[in-house]
Amino acid sequence: MNYRKMSLSVILVCLLAAVVMTGCGKAGSTKPDNSGVIGSNVNPSNDGENKGAAEEEPKEGTGQDAEHNGTQEPGEGSSTVDKAAAADPDSVAVLVNKELALPEDYEPSDLVYPDVRFIFKEKIEKRMMRSEAAKALEEMFAGAEADGVYLAGVSAYRSHSTQRSLFNRYVERDGEEKAKTYSAVPGHSEHETGLAIDVSGSDGKCAAEDCFGGTKEAEWLAQQSAEYGFIIRYPEGKESITGYKYEPWHLRYVGKEIAADIFARDITLEEYYDAVPVSGTP
Ligand code: DAL
Ligand code: ZN
Repeated sequence: MNYRKMSLSVILVCLLAAVVMTGCGKAGSTKPDNSGVIGSNVNPSNDGENKGAAEEEPKEGTGQDAEHNGTQEPGEGSSTVDKAAAADPDSVAVLVNKELALPEDYEPSDLVYPDVRFIFKEKIEKRMMRSEAAKALEEMFAGAEADGVYLAGVSAYRSHSTQRSLFNRYVERDGEEKAKTYSAVPGHSEHETGLAIDVSGSDGKCAAEDCFGGTKEAEWLAQQSAEYGFIIRYPEGKESITGYKYEPWHLRYVGKEIAADIFARDITLEEYYDAVPVSGTP
């Protein structure tokens, strides 16, 4: 009998413990509600899984240059392949923005002239892109033509010194604060990676100007460029994340897989890497 009583007591205690643990489990192990958490849409493995998992607190913008060989890496603390690529200047997935700069002496090693129309004839620096991006650009222009859309390159690669001259000219014209809403501080421009290009229609009208928005060419690029591995890098409505005003003409090559994911989720490269906000807003 004693033994039976003891067994009953043990069962009762177990049942009670199970009820308590279930309750605790509900309170303590529910997945965090990521809504409103900046960067919560990161796809750390780039394999379509773990979408919506918050990994870390967003970084505060410091206004300081953080080079990719420095300490302020995107997605710091994560060991995922994507985030390593973000911090590698030679990766087509590198993240360059107001917070993250290229190394001072960075020059892409595989620049070529893409075989596409530009709004100028000369074979000069700004006609060049890294080879993988150049090939994708050729395919994209051909794809556009098949749809009756005729594109032209406006400005692709810029060396560090070219970006410096350009930025300084804009600062003289508009003042530093305004210039920084549309032009990158030297070292912080995607054009220096050889992976970015400004694109217009073949007539060159509205080249790199606000009136390019809403054109047939801009619409085509917004909808189709991801298929070729490009993203609209500074989208409308994302100014506080990218730090730049809307640039419907600025295409950035990131590779087909990442571009498709960014397009499908309507996010920026910063959000993709859980590296927002960047310092400075337009
Ligand atoms: N217009 C972009 C932000 C650049 O200067 O790279
Ligand atoms: Zn641009």
